[in-house]
Amino acid sequence: VGDHFAHRSLAGKKILVTAGATKESLDPIRFFSNRSSGKMGYAIAEAARLAGAEVTLVAGVDLNVSSEIKRIHVTTARDMHREVMKRFSDVDAVIKAAAVADYRPEQVSEKKIKKSDDPLTVTMIRNPDILKELGEKKQSQILIGFAAETDHLEANALRKLEAKHLDLLVANHAIDSFGEDTNKVTFYFAGGKKQAFETMHKQEVATKICDALAELFETSEI
Ligand code: CTP
Ligand code: CA
Repeated sequence: VGDHFAHRSLAGKKILVTAGATKESLDPIRFFSNRSSGKMGYAIAEAARLAGAEVTLVAGVDLNVSSEIKRIHVTTARDMHREVMKRFSDVDAVIKAAAVADYRPEQVSEKKIKKSDDPLTVTMIRNPDILKELGEKKQSQILIGFAAETDHLEANALRKLEAKHLDLLVANHAIDSFGEDTNKVTFYFAGGKKQAFETMHKQEVATKICDALAELFETSEI
């Protein structure tokens, strides 16, 4: 039981959490998305609230959430970009657990696309990298990012930590975590500290992340 509660307080802190997959429309019937369930992000939002923080959750998927958490629903990466950016200057930390679509269809058909015997080619264009932009704009905010990888976990994690100016990058193997209730993560901190964990429930991972965040606040305030 003890491990399900953060050991450190986040009282007085405003924290923005993002969760789940975004969706990118192709036509009125279809969209492109990914396998992220949102469980990790929702668990983080709840853990941060239990630790005393004022939590806003920008979510691409709909799960149960306590009424003390302010939730904003989004669909596309560009929706998430807009909702996160307008709140950034008002928060003390952002935890970006969402799996944001990197690309969207260049053309969105107003009508249902009908099949033909030819292959269908869809041109995909880049979405904004929300976390990278936060890294460029950050003042005193703490930034925590995620990386779900299939290979070269550590190299990718370290590259993202640096490229996005993060304070902490939470890395895991995508295959172990998407849709599951558990997650096996490694923390990579700016400055080189690394912390590897065994498989834990996402609630427990969320608690570890909140404890790490509280510690990052303490060191940044010295
Ligand atoms: N992220 C974001 N906006 C995007 C893409 C990713 O804010 N358009 C955030 C995610 O929420 C996550 C972190 O960046 O916290 C890493 O996401 P990931 O998809 O692993 O990395 P990318 O930089 O998109 O690189 P790639 O998909 O090529 O591995
Ligand atoms: Ca990506």
